[in-house]
Amino acid sequence: MWRLSVSIFLFSCLAVSSSSFGDSEATCSGIVPLRYRYDKISITDFGGVGDGRTVNTKAFRAAIYRIQHLKRRGGTLLYIPPGVYLTESFNLTSHMTLYLAKGAVIRAVQDTWNWPLIDPLPSYGRGRELPGGRYMSFIHGDGLRDVVITGQNGTIDGQGEVWWNMWRSRTLKYTRPNLIEFKDSKEIIISNVIFQNSPFWNIHPVYCSNVVIHHVTILAPQDSPNTDGIDPDSSYNVCIEDSYISTGDDLVAIKSGWDQYGIAYGRPSSNITIRRITGSSPFAGIAIGSETSGGIKNIIAEHITLSNMGVGVNIKTNIGRGGYIKNIKISDVYVDTAKYGIKIAGDTGDHPDENYNPNALPVVKGIHIKNVWGVNVRNAGSIQGLKGSPFTGICLSEINLHGSLNSYKTWKCSDVSGTSLKVSPWPCSELRTTGGSNLCSSTF
Ligand SMILES: *[C@@H]1O[C@H](CO)[C@@H](O)[C@H](O)[C@H]1NC(C)=O
Ligand SMILES: *[C@@H]1O[C@H](CO)[C@@H](O)[C@H](O)[C@H]1NC(C)=O
Ligand SMILES: *[C@@H]1O[C@H](CO)[C@@H](O)[C@H](O)[C@H]1NC(C)=O
Repeated sequence: MWRLSVSIFLFSCLAVSSSSFGDSEATCSGIVPLRYRYDKISITDFGGVGDGRTVNTKAFRAAIYRIQHLKRRGGTLLYIPPGVYLTESFNLTSHMTLYLAKGAVIRAVQDTWNWPLIDPLPSYGRGRELPGGRYMSFIHGDGLRDVVITGQNGTIDGQGEVWWNMWRSRTLKYTRPNLIEFKDSKEIIISNVIFQNSPFWNIHPVYCSNVVIHHVTILAPQDSPNTDGIDPDSSYNVCIEDSYISTGDDLVAIKSGWDQYGIAYGRPSSNITIRRITGSSPFAGIAIGSETSGGIKNIIAEHITLSNMGVGVNIKTNIGRGGYIKNIKISDVYVDTAKYGIKIAGDTGDHPDENYNPNALPVVKGIHIKNVWGVNVRNAGSIQGLKGSPFTGICLSEINLHGSLNSYKTWKCSDVSGTSLKVSPWPCSELRTTGGSNLCSSTF
């Protein structure tokens, strides 16, 4: 055990020092100003009881109503003391901090029959799982600015099991709730909180800007359906760093709307930085897509440490999506045990309805993946573009993916062009163009 951690430590030092791209000390704290809240209230002032049985919906709504209407200069901090505060879903308001003390738990009730419904997102045209509206996220923010969720690593608990079982037994009526969603909001900071057992995606910023998520822990069982960690969606200037995520679906997935609805809404995801994420999942570590219809560009992911994964890095889209995925830089990824190291695919995910346009082909261009080290990886990589829209400018450099005994397969490529440098195992012929080294190094 001691030997193992020493070698991992040595490895990560090497990975850091050998990297010419990215700075391990870089941080996005400071991008969203952290305001000091002079005004402080406690949930207990509004009748909140942390006994794990009392339903505190009224207390949360009253406290937030007070923040919204008294509008104290500099905003207000809502303190959640140690204890288990059961509640129905509630809306946040602008200029507030939700502060969870050590040992504070905000826990969702399980009465799915009573859960409020909201409109589908215009860029999805319907709920992601089922037609029609969708259940409101457990903690919801719509049209807000200057909101902080932080504290001393208290917990926001979705008690998702009842929802996962409805999904398993096909008894859901509408799309399951996210644990937290911010929609049309800006200047959001989420830090030092534990999220657990989300019914569906954990943290979903959609149509947002200037969002910082760091020092969070996100946990859900490996077999919990669709419990993505963080899904920035049609949002820009988002920074996610220094977090541990272990869930039943993608750890971080960048999205931008679904087929004809996403194309019509036309809201890209751009300028998103993901760094120093550690975790584990049967799906992907860093994912882009598959909902990419508003376009996804200018993404950096670096210093990602993964174990027991489905796929290390997964870029996924489909026909009918339109949009684009371009200028993506992923570097310094360590993967221990995965089905695939790298997977880029044009045939992933479903369609909202049969009215998608089969001629709306996504453009995938300028994907640079550098310095990836994998051990016990069953398939090095698969890069399969679309016949009518080949993926171009795919550049792989300094990639070492070591297979497990007897089950090793090498790269599989089609409808793709690009370059490679120091890739082991030897990449597919499509990526073996001459002059590759120049192209790769000039773009990093
Ligand atoms: C919470 O916000 C949603 C979406 O903006 C809205 O439909 C709902 O009425 C709000 N609920 C309450 C209790 O204010
Ligand atoms: C909370 O957890 C994060 C992530 O594990 C850690 O970086 C941070 O130091 C912890 N903060 C506190 C106040 O315990
Ligand atoms: C991109 O986002 C970062 C925060 O992650 C911010 O500092 C920077 O100014 C943004 N760049 C542009 C061009 O908006």
